[in-house]
Amino acid sequence: MERTSAQLNELEITYQYGVSLDSLGLDNSELVRSDFIFVFTFILKISRQTNSNPIFEYLIFYRYQKSQFIRPHLCSRYKYLTLSHLFRVKIQTLITSALIVSSLYLIWLNCARNLERRYASKYAVVTGATGGVGQEIVAEMLKTMHVIAVDRDEQLLTDLVLKHKSSKNLVLPFVFDFTNKLSTFGPKFDSFLRQYNVDKLDVGMCFSNAGIGEFKQFEASSFEAKARFMQVNFSSHLAISDYFCKLFLTRTHAKSALIVTSSLITGTCGRFFALYHTSKTMLSALAASLYSEYASKGIDVLAVHPSSIANTKFMKGEGMKTLDSFASKYISHIGNLWISVTPKQIVAQMLSRVGKLNQTFVGFATVLNAIQGALLGRNLNAFLWSKCTFLDKLFTKNQ
Ligand SMILES: NC(=O)c1ccc[n+]([C@@H]2O[C@H](COP(=O)([O-])OP(=O)(O)OC[C@H]3O[C@@H](n4cnc5c(N)ncnc54)[C@H](OP(=O)(O)O)[C@@H]3O)[C@@H](O)[C@H]2O)c1
Repeated sequence: MERTSAQLNELEITYQYGVSLDSLGLDNSELVRSDFIFVFTFILKISRQTNSNPIFEYLIFYRYQKSQFIRPHLCSRYKYLTLSHLFRVKIQTLITSALIVSSLYLIWLNCARNLERRYASKYAVVTGATGGVGQEIVAEMLKTMHVIAVDRDEQLLTDLVLKHKSSKNLVLPFVFDFTNKLSTFGPKFDSFLRQYNVDKLDVGMCFSNAGIGEFKQFEASSFEAKARFMQVNFSSHLAISDYFCKLFLTRTHAKSALIVTSSLITGTCGRFFALYHTSKTMLSALAASLYSEYASKGIDVLAVHPSSIANTKFMKGEGMKTLDSFASKYISHIGNLWISVTPKQIVAQMLSRVGKLNQTFVGFATVLNAIQGALLGRNLNAFLWSKCTFLDKLFTKNQ
């Protein structure tokens, strides 16, 4: 008498497991009726009877199934249920999809925006316009619109205007020192716009980029100096954000952009740069909060985090003149390390990421630093830095 496939399966199961379906209270018609239900009932029952783990039993069952002890018509269905098969499919699919999605995402991220179409802006405001990054922003923005260059030094602004006098767009100089009373920024800027006959609604982009560095022991400066530092490095951005968010909300005909220059240092708290870390962390937090509040109202807010930047005045600033000549020499070289990025790279990221992200990181060192900052957290980061006492000796060795 020829055996049915169900009877064959029953024989194989009995042979492999040493149990009959009868003893498990299963009917071999279930093998035919529903393979799926059968497998799970079978595994549950056998694990109960042998007092073992159902997952373990399932894996054994799968091994038998793979070695063809169980009929192919069963295998073809089970293979979609097996853990390892599912896992294998997932890994392959996951890797392939992740590669495709991340490549497409990177291409999209790096595509330059059509600024004219998105912002319909005739003027871009740039603070810190005579610095390394600022000059690059000015040069790039002049390709599509006029620039209002903000800086504390009138002579440097005049030089900047002359440098671009053959450009098809204008550089308008606005002298403002962010160590002055910040509440005067708005009224002074308003009268500046009136003086140059600029319609406020034509100002659709602002780069809040001015900033200074500080590398010294916390106790080495007076409270007044600390307050001044925080005013330039954070409150100036607050004043700019206050003015431009309000202005941009009135630009109902197009989107607007507020881009702030933060730093790699947000990912690390550490010895000698307490204030710089604090000011830039506040700035990045402000940008993220403003993004969440205003993205739906047509304002793109972006914080850009560069690592050390090549060829800017930053490292030669007053606050970077550290405690002895060895330290100064060391610090002045940071800007030209192989991990440094160029102002061009920073501006390219500003203009391609705006409206897509609210935080962006320029250079692999910044990306790594942001990851370690997130992984270690403030507790561990500060603990590790607290153990770096050798830095004190290094930076104060002549004292
Ligand atoms: N360089 C780096 O390694 C680095 C790394 C990460 C982030 N950043 C950030 O990148 C931004 C641009 O820096 P940068 O490298 O281009 O430095 P930079 O060449 O020194 O430029 C800084 C700009 O800020 C202006 N500024 C400073 N204090 C001011 C004040 N009180 N009022 C008005 N303007 C003031 C400077 O004006 P003057 O020209 O008149 O001095 C200059 O135009 C800063 O926010 C900085 O914190 C720099």
